[in-house]
Amino acid sequence: MTTLLRMLLMFLVPILLSHVSAYTACPKCGSTEVPYPLSTDGSCGNSLYRVYCNNGVLEFLSGGGFYYKILSINPSAYKFVISPPPIKKDTCYSSDFASEGLKLDESLPFNVSTHNTVMLLNCTNNLLRSPLNCTSSSFCRLYEEKVEEASGCRNTLCCHYLKDSAMTSHMIRVRDGGCSAYTSVVDLKLGAPLESWNYGIELHFRVLLYTLQTVRKVDNGVASEKLTPERVENSKELCTAPATPENTLIAEDAVSPRKGEAAPLATPSAKGERFSFAL
Ligand SMILES: *[C@@H]1O[C@H](CO)[C@@H](O)[C@H](O)[C@H]1NC(C)=O
Ligand SMILES: *[C@@H]1O[C@H](CO)[C@@H](O)[C@H](O)[C@H]1NC(C)=O
Ligand SMILES: *[C@@H]1O[C@H](CO)[C@@H](O)[C@H](O)[C@H]1NC(C)=O
Repeated sequence: MTTLLRMLLMFLVPILLSHVSAYTACPKCGSTEVPYPLSTDGSCGNSLYRVYCNNGVLEFLSGGGFYYKILSINPSAYKFVISPPPIKKDTCYSSDFASEGLKLDESLPFNVSTHNTVMLLNCTNNLLRSPLNCTSSSFCRLYEEKVEEASGCRNTLCCHYLKDSAMTSHMIRVRDGGCSAYTSVVDLKLGAPLESWNYGIELHFRVLLYTLQTVRKVDNGVASEKLTPERVENSKELCTAPATPENTLIAEDAVSPRKGEAAPLATPSAKGERFSFAL
């Protein structure tokens, strides 16, 4: 990031926070904090980052329609960790097998991060043709042997892999003809004792990007002109609106200070200089 952009961000973020009252965190779910931008209902958070509070338990709903418990959230790193689905008792089937494992809705801003070591259990020999580690020293062996939940998977083929950036970042797949169960460990280090494994699937929120074109002068609540970055630093009357489904809401509530008038529209773009929006 250039110095200019950084200065721009420093200037914009406080303005956004003070103008945009929609940037409020949701109330706790049970004893769990729900930090912005996660949203448990339309009145708080950012509705793109929808999560669910079911009987005091904060959960994430996958594209496949399965609820995963949220174990921890690190909003400043744009990450949270969900619980791997339980393996059904005395079987080797993950409880999300019906939806073929974890599938993220690609239209939503969540990805599987590159910190997950995934262990696939009860796999068919097809997996031996994959680059996965299906050797007798694979982490999955230790897991099956020592963890009661996975005991139904013993004496079958299992494999592990690090979910890296070369792989699709929106699913962990189980299915007939592949593997029937899985678990995942975050930041697994070679040689770390089993007791220290941090079971979970780390997801991260995609950060929305906007071009500098989104920075416009707001005059009587109406976007008038685009500003150069230099002018931005000198202006006191600036606001931007992100191109989200909430655009209208944010505009009514906060960006447009005078009711009934148009608010600035944002144009997300894949090109040009970009900065990440304050999420
Ligand atoms: C392992 O997966 C196969 C399908 O690939 C299934 O028929 C079998 O029941 C599974 N084993 C266990 C113990 O669940
Ligand atoms: C498989 O994983 C184990 C444990 O992580 C490692 O020691 C071994 O070198 C790996 N084997 C291959 C072929 O990658
Ligand atoms: C998230 O996943 C999508 C689709 O797989 C990919 O294009 C995108 O670069 C990923 N974003 C991040 C921040 O990793």
